[in-house]
Amino acid sequence: MCGIIARIGDDDSAVDELITGLENLEYRGYDSAGVAIKNGGGPEVFKRQGKISRLKDVLAGEVPDGGLGIGHTRWSTHGPPTDENAHPHTDCTGEVAVVHNGIIENYDELRSELASRGHEFESDTDTEVIPHLVEEELARGASPELAFRRTIRKLSGSYAVAMITERDHAVYATRRGSPLVLGVSDGEYFLASDVPAFLDFTEEVIYLDDGDVVVVRSDDYEISTLDGQTVERSVSTVEWDPEDAGKGGYDHYMLKEIHEQPTALRQTLRGRADGTTGEVHLEDFPAGSFEQVERVQFVACGTSYHAGLVGAGFLSGGGVPAQTFLASEYATSPAPVDEDTLVVGVTQSGETADTLSALRKANASGARTLAVTNVVGSTAARECDDALFIRAGPEIGVAATKTFSSQVVSLSLLAERIARDVTGSPTEESRERLAALDELPGQVQQILDYSNAQKIAKQYRDSDAYFFIGRGTVFPVALEGALKFKEISYEHAEGFAAGELKHGPLALVTPKTPIFAVFTGENDEKTLGNVKEAEARGAPIVAVASEDHEEVAQHADHVLTIPETHPDVAGVLANVQLQLLSYHAADLLGRPIDKPRNLAKSVTVE
Ligand code: AGP
Ligand code: GLU
Repeated sequence: MCGIIARIGDDDSAVDELITGLENLEYRGYDSAGVAIKNGGGPEVFKRQGKISRLKDVLAGEVPDGGLGIGHTRWSTHGPPTDENAHPHTDCTGEVAVVHNGIIENYDELRSELASRGHEFESDTDTEVIPHLVEEELARGASPELAFRRTIRKLSGSYAVAMITERDHAVYATRRGSPLVLGVSDGEYFLASDVPAFLDFTEEVIYLDDGDVVVVRSDDYEISTLDGQTVERSVSTVEWDPEDAGKGGYDHYMLKEIHEQPTALRQTLRGRADGTTGEVHLEDFPAGSFEQVERVQFVACGTSYHAGLVGAGFLSGGGVPAQTFLASEYATSPAPVDEDTLVVGVTQSGETADTLSALRKANASGARTLAVTNVVGSTAARECDDALFIRAGPEIGVAATKTFSSQVVSLSLLAERIARDVTGSPTEESRERLAALDELPGQVQQILDYSNAQKIAKQYRDSDAYFFIGRGTVFPVALEGALKFKEISYEHAEGFAAGELKHGPLALVTPKTPIFAVFTGENDEKTLGNVKEAEARGAPIVAVASEDHEEVAQHADHVLTIPETHPDVAGVLANVQLQLLSYHAADLLGRPIDKPRNLAKSVTVE
C-alpha cells in the first residue's frame, strides 16, 4: 500500500536517488523505510522503523556505492512496524532482496510449506515468503528471471513487487492490484509506486498494467506477460508541478483520499467476502470465534463513532444485542460489561486517547476487546485481545474519508461473522448484502466519475446553515455528512435523525438552510414526509438517492445520485457524495482543507 522505488544505472548514485525517491513518496504515509544496494556482491540491506531520517542516519556511517538498488516505505499490514519487518526482505542466503506493496493472501500456507522445508524467517510479514520462494527456484537451477516468474505465479492477493539478486545487474518487477510505473531516462531507469518518486530525474513514464512483468537492465528494459509474451507500452511525458505531484496530482490529500476509495475498499474486502457463496473469512476469526458473545459494545469518537453506529445497526439487525458509545462517555455509562461482552474500539489511528481509555476500562471489567483499526502496531491493536485491520492505506488529511468507508465495510463483515457465530447460518438477506459489497468499489468509482457535488456546493455557498437528515442505517451518514462539512468548511452544519426535525430543529429551517436528505431505497416514505415539512418552510432540498427514485426527485431541488444497491450499503455511497460536497464547499471558501484549524489527525488527549 505504500511506496516502492527501484533504480538502475551504471554509475554509483543509487543510494542518493533512492533516498530522494523515498522522500518524494513520503506523502503516501509510511511507518518504516529501507533500501537494498548492490555493489558487486549480494544486496546490502539497510532498514529502520520510523522516519526516513532514521534510515539516513544509518546510511550516513557507511554509504554503499552502487548503481542498482531497491527502496521501500512500508505501511504495515502483516506484523507491527519494527526494524525486522521493514522491507527489503531477503532469503536464507542473502542473495535475493525484495520489496513489496500490498497483501499476499496465501502467505500463511506458503510460509508453513517453506518452513517445513527448512527456511528460516526473520519477520512477521507476508512479503518474506517471496525471497524464499525465489531462493528455492534458483537452487533448482532457474535463472533469476524464471525464478521470479515462477514465484509470482504462486502468489495470490494484490501486489507490486521489485527484486534484485546477487546473480545479475537487473531489477525484476511486476504488479497486480497495486500501482507500479517505470521511469525512463538517459543511462538510468526507475520503478516506483507513483511518478513523483522519480520526477527529479525524469519525466518520461511508462504506466504498467496489472500482470506486466518488467525486467530492467542498465541499458534497456523489457515488458512481458507472466507467460513471457512481450507487450508494448508507450512512453508518456508528465508535465507536473512538483508541488502537485506530492499529492499524486490532487490539490489536497483529502481529495486524493476520497478518490482512493475504490482501491481502499478492494483492499478491505480482498479475500474476506464471497458474494456468490456467502462466505466470510476474517483472517484471525474463523467460524465459531464469537460463539460466547452475548452483547457487543462499540466505543469510538468522531467519524469512527458514526461507523460504530452503522456497525451496531448491522449487529442488531442480525439478532445480536449491540450498542455504540462515544468513547469519552463510556467511563460513566452504566452499561453492563462482563466476560461475555465484546467491546469493539473503532479507531482509524489506533491512538485516540478517549477510545484507548474506554478500551482499558472494558479490559479491566473482564470484557473481550477488539480493535478495528487502520494502523497495524498501533496502541489499540496492541492492547486489545484481537484486532481487525481495515486496510484503507494511510490517510493524511485530518478529515477521515476513505477510512470511514473501509470501517463500515469491515464492520459489516465483522457483524456478519459475529451474527453467524451467535445465531446460526447466513440468511438470504446477509448473502444479498455481501453480494452488494462486491459491487461497492465500482459503484464508488461511478460516483467519483459523475458527481455534481461541486455544482451544488457552489449553488448553496451563501447559506446560513446546512442540515443533514437520514433515518435508520443512514442516520449515522447524516451525522457524518454534517461533521465533515463543519470540520473543513467552518460553516454551521448539523445532522439529525429525519424524524427529529419536527421536534425542534425545524425552528431553524428557512430558505437559507439547505436540507441534505439521505435515502436508501427502504422506508423512504417517512423521510420524504420530513422533507416536505422542510420544503413547506421554504428550505432548498438536496436529496441523496438513487437516480430512479422519482418521488424523491419530485420534492428535491437537486439530487446527488447514487447507484442502486442494498439499503444497508447505500450509506457508504451516499457518504461519498457528501464527502465531495464538503470538500468543494470548503475549497470554494479557500479553507486549509487538509489541516483544519484547531484539529489534529490523531487526538491523544482525553
Ligand atoms: C474525522 O474527520 C475527524 N478527524 C475525527 O472525528 C476522527 O474521526 C476522530 O478523532 C477519531 O479518530 P480515530 O478514528 O483515529 O480514533
Ligand atoms: N504486506 C506488507 C507488509 O506488511 C507490505 C505492506 C505495504 O504495502 O507497505 O510488510
